[in-house]
Amino acid sequence: MRSGYSEAKEAKNQSIDPSTRIVDLRSDTFTQPSPEMREAIYKAELGDDVFGEDPTVNRLEQIAANMFGMEDATFVASGTMGNIAAALTHCTRGDEMIVGEKSHMFNAEAGAASALGGIAVQAIANDSRGMIDLDELRSRIRPDNIHYPPTTLIGIENTANQCGGSALSSDEIRSVVSVAKERDIKTHVDGARIFNASVALETPVDQLVAGADTVSFCLSKGLSCPVGSVLVGSNEDIETARRWRKAMGGGMRQVGILAAAGIVALETMVSRLAEDHANARKLATGLSKIDGIICDPDSYPTNLVFCDVSVKNPSEILQKLDDRGVKALSLPAGWRLVTHYGITSDDIDYALDVIRDVFKEYASF
Ligand SMILES: Cc1ncc(COP(=O)(O)O)c(C=O)c1O
Repeated sequence: MRSGYSEAKEAKNQSIDPSTRIVDLRSDTFTQPSPEMREAIYKAELGDDVFGEDPTVNRLEQIAANMFGMEDATFVASGTMGNIAAALTHCTRGDEMIVGEKSHMFNAEAGAASALGGIAVQAIANDSRGMIDLDELRSRIRPDNIHYPPTTLIGIENTANQCGGSALSSDEIRSVVSVAKERDIKTHVDGARIFNASVALETPVDQLVAGADTVSFCLSKGLSCPVGSVLVGSNEDIETARRWRKAMGGGMRQVGILAAAGIVALETMVSRLAEDHANARKLATGLSKIDGIICDPDSYPTNLVFCDVSVKNPSEILQKLDDRGVKALSLPAGWRLVTHYGITSDDIDYALDVIRDVFKEYASF
């Protein structure tokens, strides 16, 4: 059975016209490392990280822990690995974690919490901004009864990918944490794009996640690193998470070569996210004016823009855009267009011109 991956690889290998301007808005995972990152990668001091002896990884972990006001951090291969390591750290076999029904932890981690950890997963409703209702949350935490799996973890996503990249405030995160604490339950923040939330809300990340037990964040998305995420938490939790990381095959040896880019990301790539947010607003405003597209610019405060297309032939239109170098992603929540490092304001003008043209020429409403 083919997974979609092989088709994509084949398509990529087919020759594309090099004169076509490409504006790839499918995801911020398409970012390329900055020149400064490439230089840092070249010069990185390395050691065996499984022995704790890679000085560059150790430095990245220290910087990340400090930024988040946590005791320790561990460098992991991906956001998925960070979330799974957190779930395995906070839950033992037969325990339960509660996550949002639109969350990445529920939908997009190949069932790893259950498959690898024997963890029961309960999904609760996310509102349009990715927040969960606190009374609903209280009512879903299991009472102490032999019939039920003990609830030991609540996961919350910030920014919420499938909810328009909305940024939850420190008060909102704190309110979830306080419900968890009432019942002695741990909280994990899937902060794959937490720096987007931090920049949008002008709130430092340590304040944004105050009270949470662990946070994972991605270096590989808006922060533009080629690979990598970091899980931060207490000394005890990170020690456990490192063991799980090893169990998942995530001990990466001279991985300072990647951590070096991560340090550059934390030092130079955070404040520029404001540019991506401004480009996203410009894109959403432009889309909202095109016949056949429904997009509310006020719903997208960070770098993710979603729109509904009221046309009969959406996949044909998407292909026409692709033929002219403008790439968007069709998801259950609508078309997604993401701004990121490498996408300029001029690229947004170009993308809007192409989208306008294609909708005029090919859309049958
Ligand atoms: C909210 C969220 N969490 C976690 C992840 C997983 O990150 P990775 O692709 O590095 O595994 C993603 C990826 O898109 C995400 O959007």
